[in-house]
Amino acid sequence: MRIWDTIAKKFATFVERKDFMKVVTTTDALRKARASLDGSVGFVPTMGALHAGHLSLIRRAAEENDCVVVSIFVNPTQFLEGEDLDAYPRREEADIAICDKAGVDVVFMPTIAQMYEADELAVSAPAKRGYILEGAKRPGHFDGMLQIVMKLLNLTKPTRAYFGKKDAQQLALVTQMVRTYFLDTQIVPCDIVRDEKGLALSSRNAYLNEEEKERALALSRALRLASERIVSGERNARRIEAVMYEVLEETDKIEYAVAVDRDFRAIEEIEIGNTILLVAAWVGKTRLIDNVWV
Ligand code: PAJ
Repeated sequence: MRIWDTIAKKFATFVERKDFMKVVTTTDALRKARASLDGSVGFVPTMGALHAGHLSLIRRAAEENDCVVVSIFVNPTQFLEGEDLDAYPRREEADIAICDKAGVDVVFMPTIAQMYEADELAVSAPAKRGYILEGAKRPGHFDGMLQIVMKLLNLTKPTRAYFGKKDAQQLALVTQMVRTYFLDTQIVPCDIVRDEKGLALSSRNAYLNEEEKERALALSRALRLASERIVSGERNARRIEAVMYEVLEETDKIEYAVAVDRDFRAIEEIEIGNTILLVAAWVGKTRLIDNVWV
């Protein structure tokens, strides 16, 4: 009896699955696959090397939509000269298996030639918000990121697109782009997933050795300590930044440790419910970012 129950259950899950996951590599195939999807579509753009952070976005997209599309594309135009484009982890097979298990309907894995033509017209990051913090340290990064997200949103035409707060400035700029260009997609911000010690998950963590992983904890520790000071009543933004700088001394190079409002404007006073604390620092040859929304 029990064996028949198991077989029946397995068969039921098999039948329940709408369809097998499609992996498409051309824009034409993606358009076709998109046209075959019924109901709402949740979209999760990624650069692959999927981890539990990406998976939390995919799961949320699956919960809130009838269908899920994931893109995996290491976008060259958002890497600056001398950055880690060539070293960026690529794990296509494992990524496809993760998507399949998570119930994704379509995975889009294009080549560079599929996505770009010569002498393109371009989307630009806004002059102020796009060129502070990450934009100041990585000038041009957000232009390349917005360009590819624009293309992906136009191809996928999702009801909702899921972005992690881990890349807070990216999330803000994509939200602004959707508003500026009147795109019909709702941008959904998703919480940061961390490991058991507090390190924010990132595909770039793969570059860290054990010793560096320990020191990388300085980023989340700086944010935690600063948050605790805020909870204890500290409201002066400069003093909060000083707390973060002190902890970040354990890294090899601090790029910034700041408190800004949710629109990325400079602030003097911390306002609960409208502040983001952001840090960026190097550990060995790896550049890491993290933040907390206060
Ligand atoms: P990637 O770094 O692969 O991240 C894909 C999405 O996963 C982003 O929205 C990012 O914020 C989110 N994410 C990464 N780590 C996370 C974590 N620990 N917790 C929650 N979410 C996390 O961001 C990009 O790719 C690219 O810039 C992209 C938008 C795909 C355009 O090329």
